Amino acid sequence: MDTRQKKSLGKLVGTVGELEHGKSKKFTLRRGQRDLEALLVNYEGNYFAYVNRCPHTGITLDWVNNQFFSSDNRYLMCATHGAVFEPPTGECVWGPCFGLALQNVPIQIDGEQIYASLPGANENE
Ligand code: FES
Repeated sequence: MDTRQKKSLGKLVGTVGELEHGKSKKFTLRRGQRDLEALLVNYEGNYFAYVNRCPHTGITLDWVNNQFFSSDNRYLMCATHGAVFEPPTGECVWGPCFGLALQNVPIQIDGEQIYASLPGANENE
């Protein structure tokens, strides 16, 4: 695959094996004049990515930097309210944002590399 094709996959945000189950990594995507903070998570060996913004107030989920999982690594959590989200879907299943969902960031895995892209985001910045 040449460089032009790789750019179309999105921004390189991680590598397979870099995160264990229940671990996360933050990254940013540029959209217009703004940097959007996002998180890449490994949940049971599968990778998912979401914008780091609660759907009910718009604040970031992590109070302690990059701490998104509940202590048992079962859910993603809002540190402010204790709301919990399903890692594979981003759906809030308990808390003030019940029924709402985190904004998914589509990812693609090419070999060992994980790329993220968001419509309207500039992955080259
Ligand atoms: S900000 Fe929405 S659950 Fe905490």
